[in-house]
Amino acid sequence: MKKILSIIMTVLLCAALTACGDQPQTETKETPAATEGQKESAENTNAEVDNTAAHPDVLVAYFSATGTTKKVAEKIAAITGGDLYEIVPAEPYSDADLNWNDRNSRSTKEQNDKNVRPEIGSAEISMEGYTTVYLGFPIWWGEEPRILDTFVEKYSFEGITVIPFCTSGSSGIGRSGPNMEALAGNGTWLQGKRFGGNASDADVQSWIEGLK
Ligand SMILES: Cc1cc2nc3c(=O)[nH]c(=O)nc-3n(C[C@H](O)[C@H](O)[C@H](O)COP(=O)(O)O)c2cc1C
Repeated sequence: MKKILSIIMTVLLCAALTACGDQPQTETKETPAATEGQKESAENTNAEVDNTAAHPDVLVAYFSATGTTKKVAEKIAAITGGDLYEIVPAEPYSDADLNWNDRNSRSTKEQNDKNVRPEIGSAEISMEGYTTVYLGFPIWWGEEPRILDTFVEKYSFEGITVIPFCTSGSSGIGRSGPNMEALAGNGTWLQGKRFGGNASDADVQSWIEGLK
């Protein structure tokens, strides 16, 4: 009887240890967008993304300061099979930089000056082979953050259909699309779409299907 009890105890102990061993994997948490972007920025500055090999004809390029637009961008990429490209600022935005209640914060000052062009820190990308670019950003003071202006002036969208999308607290996409279209000077720009922070896969999917 003692022997049987000891065997049962050993089996139970092994099972418990195996379960504990699995825990850290299942609890892996996603790194916040800004931190991930900052790391990428440090690694990739001045490098070029090697996308010369065969790739999808859809690119989903986005800037996301706090991760909301990133989630929508990832949904678009999953639905379209497109490549994802994060527009990472060379100088990351701190919480203080993003404080819209402070008229002297970096974001407020940038949005008040249409000529500011924050530098992009992520690796350069070749637009060759892409026919559609979804372009995502958060709304800052009713329009696109200035780093989007840097992006659209940096690349040529000749022969490319550009589809803006944004996330915001409540504002619409406003004049962001026409603003960027004017700065880009080429490309076929479609009417953009605004999503809330809790946009579902179905919301994104039905929008994409409606574009066809
Ligand atoms: C500097 C700044 C200005 C903002 N201005 C607006 C605005 O004018 N209207 C609005 O609805 N939301 C505004 N927001 C809220 C963001 O658009 C919203 O939280 C967005 O989903 C954030 O996206 P992200 O997490 O991808 O950065 C602002 C946020 C910041 C940081």
